Amino acid sequence: MRIGVFCSGGDAPGMNPCVRAVVRRAVSTGNEVVGIHRGYQGLLDEDFFLNVVGEPRMTLRSVSGWSRLGGARLRSSRCEEFRTEAGLVKAARILTKHGIDALIPIGGDGTSRGAVDLMRHWNGRVVSCPGTIDNDLIGTDFTIGFSTAVQTAVEAVDKIRDTAESHERMFLVEVMGRHSGYIALHTALASGAEGVCIPETFTDIAGIADHLRVLKERGKTSVMVVVAEGDERGGADVLQKELAAAGCPFSTRVVVLGHLQRGGCPSPEDRILASRLGDYAVTALLDGANAVMAGVSAGTNTLTPLEETFTGHKPLPAELLQLLESLAM
Ligand code: F6P
Repeated sequence: MRIGVFCSGGDAPGMNPCVRAVVRRAVSTGNEVVGIHRGYQGLLDEDFFLNVVGEPRMTLRSVSGWSRLGGARLRSSRCEEFRTEAGLVKAARILTKHGIDALIPIGGDGTSRGAVDLMRHWNGRVVSCPGTIDNDLIGTDFTIGFSTAVQTAVEAVDKIRDTAESHERMFLVEVMGRHSGYIALHTALASGAEGVCIPETFTDIAGIADHLRVLKERGKTSVMVVVAEGDERGGADVLQKELAAAGCPFSTRVVVLGHLQRGGCPSPEDRILASRLGDYAVTALLDGANAVMAGVSAGTNTLTPLEETFTGHKPLPAELLQLLESLAM
């Protein structure tokens, strides 16, 4: 079988070990792997990874050392042309021309959506791997990159706490998550933050301001509130203004962590998850699977229909939200 592998959408730490696992499993079982650069854009441009002898075919050695590398060695992109029917038809033609039988896209919801659209025009098979720091795909407990992003955000919040304590300030730390509060909630819990503002729950400015006054009366001198960029009221800048207007008792600063969260060497958890999913995606393809995403749920490898992975909202564990509230005293 000739398998195309690519990374698409926002890069995520762990994409490289995932590609490594795909290549190692596929090549060692007598299959060929074509590495496609820059996601769907690279497919449309026929921009393929060339091995040491200049062939568009990845070898066992092509991925040596990739388990520890951050970013996406195959590079990644968001591709407007692929959202058009003409782009999809062109991609299908290119895949057929190069004899690619199956694809393993590594990416988030947009990547899954793109694969579903492509399959309307192309007869090959697809088993995707969930690669996004947002952890917003249904069908896997965690996505590749989430663990590292949370680790990075927690390290940052810990440092910000030092200066917050010195100056007796409150910080609103904005983390990524356009539609999901996973990074924010896990970061807030791990860093002992006093609050979290996320798209899944109503952000009650007056209620937060009241809570802050109580905390101040109890002797709190520094406060950390982690804000998901997709909070329904807006990001940390908006919240800072609204809280000030509601009588926030602390002097406040905003830090936006931004793309810092997408960089760095993948954590051991991400390396293991990525290796496991890349390997499993190939096994699933060889077993005849199609139009599914490989995931790990409750410790077990799972396959979920691609459309289901992005059509609903992945719920946050309610007990973690309650835990944060009950500990932020
Ligand atoms: O990868 C997902 C994500 O990290 C979102 O949380 C964030 O809103 C977005 O990517 C930013 O993407 P871009 O790199 O296109 O600015």
